[in-house]
This record gives sequence, C-alpha cells and structure tokens, in this order.
Amino acid sequence: MKLSAVILAAGKGLRMRSDLPKVAHKVAGKPIILHVVKAVREAGIDDIVVVVGHGREIVQEICSGEELRFVLQEQQLGTGHALMQAEAAVAPENTILVLAGDIPLIQAATLQQLIDSHRQKQAAATVLSVNMQNPSGYGRIVRDKPAAFLRIVEEKDANEEEKKLKEINSGIYCFSGRQVFSALHSIGTSNAQGEYYLTEVLELLEKQQEPIGIFLSDAEEDIYGINDRLQLAQAEKILRQRKNRELMLSGVSLMDPASTFIDSDVLIGHDTIILPFTLIEGNSSLGERCEIGPGTRISDSIIGNEVKIENSRIMQASVSDRCNIGPFAYLRPETTLQEGVKVGDFVEIKKSTIGTGSKIPHLSYVGDATIGQGVNVGAGTITCNYDGKNKYQTVLEDRVFIGSNTNLVAPVRIGENSVTGAGSTISRDVPPHTLAVERAGQKHLPRRG
Ligand code: UD1
Ligand code: CA
Repeated sequence: MKLSAVILAAGKGLRMRSDLPKVAHKVAGKPIILHVVKAVREAGIDDIVVVVGHGREIVQEICSGEELRFVLQEQQLGTGHALMQAEAAVAPENTILVLAGDIPLIQAATLQQLIDSHRQKQAAATVLSVNMQNPSGYGRIVRDKPAAFLRIVEEKDANEEEKKLKEINSGIYCFSGRQVFSALHSIGTSNAQGEYYLTEVLELLEKQQEPIGIFLSDAEEDIYGINDRLQLAQAEKILRQRKNRELMLSGVSLMDPASTFIDSDVLIGHDTIILPFTLIEGNSSLGERCEIGPGTRISDSIIGNEVKIENSRIMQASVSDRCNIGPFAYLRPETTLQEGVKVGDFVEIKKSTIGTGSKIPHLSYVGDATIGQGVNVGAGTITCNYDGKNKYQTVLEDRVFIGSNTNLVAPVRIGENSVTGAGSTISRDVPPHTLAVERAGQKHLPRRG
C-alpha cells in the first residue's frame, strides 16, 4: 500500500499577530512547516502535498529546497474543504496521512505508529487521539458503549457532557484515499462555525459501517499546535530539550543545557564539550573533542576535530582540525581555516583562506585574502581591501611574517619568507625573502615647554 501525505497549511494564524503566515515562523531555527515535513519524511513518506492559502508565496519559498507539491485553497472554508483541494493531487488508491502544518513537535515514530495501527485494522479512517488534562479548544472523541468510534465533536458544537470528555482529536489521521475523497463530497457546513469539517468524514464513514480506528497515543507533546507566540516559545523549549538530550546521550557534554541552544539539524561529534551561553545554528556540523564556548554563536559552519572556540561569532565558515579561535573573534562567510590555525582576540576574517599552522593572534582585519602556511600576522594588521568602489585581493605566501600594525593595501602579494617592518603601509608587491619597510626615519627633536 503506497502512502501519500497531505499537510494542511492554508490558515493565517490570526493569533500570531504577524505579517508572516503561521507556519513560516521559526522554531529551533527552522520554519514550523519544515519540522512537520521532516517528521513525515522520516516516517517513510516521500509523496507530500501541502495545501497553501494565506501567504502561499512565502510558504512555497520556505519549502523550495524540499520536493513537495502544492495545492491552493483560495478561501479557508474549513479543514474538510482544505483536504478536498488535494483530491486531484493524490492517487486515490494510496493511504493518505493528513496532518496540520502547525505542529512542529510531531515525531516520525508517532506517525509511524498511527500508520501501523491503520494498516493492522484495515480501517477506512484512523484518528490519532490523546487524553488531555485540559482538553479545551480541541475536538473531542465521542465513543459508543463498546468504546468504538462514534464521532468527533468540536468544542464549539459540544454539549456540557461532551465538553467533559478528555480524549481529543489531534487533527492527525490516516485515510483510505478513495473513501475519504468520496465522503468529502457529502459533507456540509451545518455546524457552529459554518465550515466544512474534515472530522465529519469519519462520522459519515462510520455510519456507512466502515471500520474506523482510534489510535490513542501517549505522545501528548507531539500534537501541540502553535496558535500564538507563547505556544511558539513553549515548542521552542521542548525542541531544544529534545535536541540537547539526544546530543548528551550520543556523547556530547553540555555544561549547562539550559543556556545552550542547538538547532535540530546540527551534528556534533562525541567528547565535544559545549560551555554555557552558546548557540549553534542552521546546518552546522562540529567534530569530536572540541571545546566550544562559553558565549559562542556558530551558524551554518563546518568545524573539524579538537577545535577550541571561546566567546566568538562564526558564520558560514569552515574550520579544520585543531584550530584555536578567540576569545572575541569574528569569522564571516567564506572564511576557511586550514589545520592548526590560531585566530586570537579581536580578529575579523572575511572571504579568506588561512593556511595550515598560520597565526593571526590579535587585533586584525583580514578580508579577501589568501594566506599560506606558517604565516604570522602581527597585531593590528589590516588588509585594506576596499577602495570605496571595489574589493581587492591580498596574498601572503608561505612563512611570511607581517610586522605589527602593517597596512596591506590590496591588491598586493608578499612573496614567501618575506617580512614587513612594523607600522609599514605596503602597497607594492614584495618579492620572496625580502624585508619590506615603509616608514619615515625616526627623528629626535628638542622638547619645548
Ligand atoms: C481541528 C479539528 C479539531 C482538532 C484540532 C487539533 C476540525 C473541524 N477540527 O480544529 O477536532 O482537535 O484541529 O488541532 O478539523 N486549515 C486549512 N484550511 C482551512 C482551515 C484550516 O488549511 O480552511 C489548516 C490550518 O492552517 C491548520 C489546520 O488546518 O494548519 C487545522 O486548522 P484549525 O483551524 O487550527 O483547526 P481547529 O479549529 O484547531
Ligand atoms: Ca488549531
């Protein structure tokens, strides 16, 4: 039996009070909808249709890296109407998993269990339910005497007895494709909200004596929907706790998990230690035996083994094994540090490659540069890479020694084994094995007064 998934994401999410559609908001570094897509994929489903409406250009843009198909729900007339829009997009012989796009805590294992239960019972429809202490706001599952499925009643349509029911509809279902679409054609809008309720499909099928399954899950967290920014922050906390736990169990030490923020897709090798107040974001990967932090923020970067980074900002950079960075360094995009490089305090590096074993220990700006192996860049050295219009390259060949406070006016090349005198402004290429000094002679004048 082949599987398709339909993710309902056409709603606006009024309570977010945002210009962005709800599912575009980020949680643990990633838009809500992409967390849902990830869980669906991990549950083994590749054929995914997303129902979009409000802010659809934004949602489609966010999902552009994924192989998804989109259908448009022009007007949001209810969850049943939303699924109807997908009728032409999915093969009717498939089993269809339906879920909302605003549940970032959903995990593949929970979806997998629902799918398995649906298959085992050969049901026409299976709903994932959860027992909740505080069920308010959710649709309630109404069972008949032998505890079989009867219907789902929305809070707004429920009577006092029904409101007391604690078993709620998660909004996650498995359907036989053919049956759900044929039933969808028969549902109406005679309910408190005047909407096409997807939940009515299950009641219809039940009346036709089709087998309806209820998969009662204990994964309460998984189904939390995001409606406002308070819930967004709660989901953020839970996702981060899950990530921290996964990392610690895989051999990464977090000195203080509460002040460590690691995005879901980050990879970290074992015996790496993360010190407090550290953020590791996006598609970053870190090797083994590193020591990161305190106070460090790394985004979309690749870090090798045994790297030390203290109080620094690293963006879209690549750092090889045994580099030592900070405190207070700033690595900007397209920076590559080869093995064993030292980047010290108050050093900014942009679009540059620094060769094996080279050192930039203090107070420097290095931009658009290629630095060879075993180079030492003295304190206060600046690559003057920008003339107000264009950027130019600086090349320091192997074993160059740049004296303190040198201005390297690009384009400029310093040949191998050459040295610049402290305080020089170097604007012409320096041949190999040369000492280049550009500096007025020191004068001694009598002091007045
Ligand atoms: C729905 C269920 C309710 C369940 C709850 C779980 C119905 C009638 N009710 O209620 O039983 O307990 O989810 O969270 O289905 N959407 C569209 N187009 C629409 C309407 C909604 O795409 O026209 C999308 C929304 O963007 C959202 C999802 O469907 O992602 C759920 O819609 P929402 O309005 O939040 O449903 P609830 O009223 O919460
Ligand atoms: Ca909802």
